[in-house]
Formats: sequence, structure tokens, C-alpha cells
Amino acid sequence: MRASLVVGNWKMNGGLAANARLLDALVTGFPRDDAGETPRELAVCVPFPYLGQVQAALSSSRIAWGAQDVSAHASGAYTGEVAAGMLVEFGCRFALVGHSERRQMHAESDALVAAKARAALDGGITPVICVGETLAEREANATAAVVTRQFGAVAAALGSDLPRIVLAYEPVWAIGTGKTASPAQAQEVHALLRGALRKARAADVRVLYGGSVKAANAKALFAMQDVDGGLVGGASLDADEFLAIARA
Ligand code: PGA
Repeated sequence: MRASLVVGNWKMNGGLAANARLLDALVTGFPRDDAGETPRELAVCVPFPYLGQVQAALSSSRIAWGAQDVSAHASGAYTGEVAAGMLVEFGCRFALVGHSERRQMHAESDALVAAKARAALDGGITPVICVGETLAEREANATAAVVTRQFGAVAAALGSDLPRIVLAYEPVWAIGTGKTASPAQAQEVHALLRGALRKARAADVRVLYGGSVKAANAKALFAMQDVDGGLVGGASLDADEFLAIARA
């Protein structure tokens, strides 16, 4: 049984006062004892400077937290980078790796994404590895080829550690655009990824869907057989909306 997981991605948003209000509402709204039949997990991935604040606010809750990136290196002369071991000191369980905004705006290659995933695992962090096609790639019928290539680089680098990851399918054209993949479109790619995971002996890896997930569409998306939860950007900044997605 794959426990469902909803991960919030605050991106470069927040501030001490606003975070305090949001975290407080999440702690109050997410029950300590999960009475539901399906185990649910909730996490937020926040900007690095707020990790201490988030750790203090969430450590006695059932909500986990993490970062939005992690260095491929363990330590050394890498100005501006943050190592997995540092994230562990702040109680992080997760780090997003290979988000499309990093791939596109920071030229992160498949090889770098795979190296970051490796470093996260070596440091004790679960990488939430993002894959997904652009609109041009979808229109060129290249969706399967793109996500298979992105996944393949990670699978090759991680080998027998692959079962320790979380995967997120995020069609780039659906991120922050208000355009969500239909449940059927999401399921089609999730089924493809599930097949690749099964072949790599990692069938139980959770595959999250991301891209304009809201309370209004989460239930239908999460009802799909191979969708194990969501990676939520904009809607994770609103406590009511995020909690409603977590309940979906
Ligand atoms: P969005 O972002 O929910 O705002 O579309 C999702 C993401 O980028 O992870």
C-alpha cells in the first residue's frame, strides 16, 4: 500500500510573519492522528532561510518539511550551494530535485539532477524528483520520450537505491498556468512511469502529480490508479486550500 503524499512547494515566497500564520493554520488543520483508512502524509518544501522556523513550528506535528534543491556535493568550495547533510540538521525529510524551474532557469541537466538525487540519498534526504515535458514537447508527441529519458538518468545513477525516492510528474505547461493535465492525461504518464519503476524493481515508489493542483481538481487527479498524491505550488500558500488538497 502506497501512503498518499501531498508536498507543498512554496517556491521563492514567504516571510517570517506570513510563514508563521500559514504554519500555524496547517498544524491546527492537519490532525495529529490519522483516522482515515489510507495513511496520508503532508510536507512543505520551503526556501532555505526558513528551515529553522519551519522545524520549530512543525516538529511536534505530523507534517514533514524539506528544501527545494540540494547540492550534488557533500561539502567544499561550492558558493551558494546547500548540502544534504545541512538539510538533515534542520530536520528535513525531503528535497525537491530537478524541478522544471531549476532545469529551465538554472540549466540543470539530467546528469546533474541524477547526481543531486544521489547526494540527497547519501545524506539521508528523500529526493522528490521532478520530470515533465514542455508544451512544445507534448505537441511534438515527445512526452513519453522526455519523461523516460529524465527518469532513466535517475534510475541509472541510483541503481538499487531507486526504491527510496519519490517521483513527481509535472507537465511544464501546467505549472503555475492554471492549466491542469486532465486526470486521464496524468494517469497515462503515471502509468508509463509506474511501468518503468516496476522494471527497475521500484514499483512502490510514490508518483505525485504537480501542475496547477487545487482543491477543486485534486480529488479527480488523486483518484487515478497511479497518482499517489500531489506536488502543489501556488495553492500550498493558502492553508485552507492546501489542507483541502491534503484531504482529497
Ligand atoms: P503550481 O506549481 O501548483 O503553482 O502549478 C507546481 C510546482 O511547480 O511544483
